[in-house]
Amino acid sequence: MVEGDSRERDSRRRLLVLGGGPAQLGLLAAARARDLYVIAVDRDASAPGFRYADRRAIVSTEDEPGIERLAGAERVDGLIAPGIDWPVAIAARVAERLGLSHPIAPETAVLSTSKLRQRARFAEAGVPQPAHEICSGAEEATEAASRIGFPCVIKAPDRQGQRGLTLVGAAKDVPDAVRVALDASRSATLLVEEHVAGREVTVNAFSSGGHFYPLTVTDRLTAPLPAFGVALTHVWPSELEPQQIGAAVEAASAAAAAVGVQNGPTYTQVLVGEEGARVGELAARLGGGHDAELCRVALGVDLNGAALSAALGEEVPASALAPVARVGGACVRFLVPPSGELRRIAGVEEAFAQEGIRGIRIYRRPGHRFGEFRRGADRAGAVLAVGDTREEALQRADRAEGTIRFETEDVEALV
Ligand SMILES: Nc1ncnc2c1ncn2[C@@H]1O[C@H](COP(=O)(O)OP(=O)(O)OP(=O)(O)O)[C@@H](O)[C@H]1O
Ligand SMILES: [Mg+2]
Repeated sequence: MVEGDSRERDSRRRLLVLGGGPAQLGLLAAARARDLYVIAVDRDASAPGFRYADRRAIVSTEDEPGIERLAGAERVDGLIAPGIDWPVAIAARVAERLGLSHPIAPETAVLSTSKLRQRARFAEAGVPQPAHEICSGAEEATEAASRIGFPCVIKAPDRQGQRGLTLVGAAKDVPDAVRVALDASRSATLLVEEHVAGREVTVNAFSSGGHFYPLTVTDRLTAPLPAFGVALTHVWPSELEPQQIGAAVEAASAAAAAVGVQNGPTYTQVLVGEEGARVGELAARLGGGHDAELCRVALGVDLNGAALSAALGEEVPASALAPVARVGGACVRFLVPPSGELRRIAGVEEAFAQEGIRGIRIYRRPGHRFGEFRRGADRAGAVLAVGDTREEALQRADRAEGTIRFETEDVEALV
């Protein structure tokens, strides 16, 4: 189903954006500000990003034939999948089939959306990464885990947002984790990985003409267990030593080269442990946690704009990617709701008026049911804060977080 105005085609360049959810809002707003003709795709008719679109298509972001038909019928000039993994490969394939310029080739997109293929490619290219084994069942995984050692991480190879992901402390817990991973897996396989203890940074970068431009390197602060790996804060600048930050950037750059990214944004999770920097994962897209907006306020680089240009086949000059520190510190803080059915959200305007608060996104509407906090999708919103220092940005985020209240009501048998 396609909705929207049906006026004569105008002269604006036409962009198909896969996804109209919280992770795409920044890019969609940037597209609107640039006066592009935007067609947004989401299976959820109430997706918040639809408000920035000229045309709305109620189509799943994973429906490749549907997206191809739409892109063809709408005669789009480019496609982009910001903040979500699987559709990155769909966008690349559809662009190729329609003869549209696109920042990455389908092969690169596939390498960036399969943790399994990516690990194999990194191994060939010598990109540092955690020890890992590919398995298909509990017995195999138990053996792999005993070789790798506990704790280890068991994950689905082709999901994001912590779906199918478990930190496993002992052999007895392997079968449950395998079930969780296989339930989420699209390929009946799973990964058993060494758990890298230490710090984690995200390297947000942009490649143009084969040159890798590192932008914000943020510390990823994660939630307590059982919400393993769920980001609660991305904060800039990183607290790591300059040398470690350099090593993380080098690892991210090597990862981008290994999967073949020559143009466009990359989002690389780098684990920094005793053995140095190792790549957790690279995504050939914008980050899904308002990373581009953080980059804009921290370094003055319009990463959303650069990604839009790349998606439309426009060259992104080095001058558009030159970082200039605008503030001393900045962070994205994700909001953790109480469980229950959401009745009311209070304090948003008050929080937005506080010093240093540059943006607030609320992900859910009244009626939404929050269960136990386990995964990225259980987050209720985010605050973007800046300060003279990293600590000040964090304090301001704390304050805003304390001001915003998600009022919920207990519901029997929450699912
Ligand atoms: N081998 C590992 N060692 C240490 N931490 C890990 C490991 N694998 C995953 N994690 C933690 O879990 C988080 C999510 O892992 P991963 O990126 O593999 O899953 P995901 O479902 O793709 O999540 P996201 O959508 O946040 O990227 C990582 O950012 C990290 O905090
Ligand atoms: Mg990931």
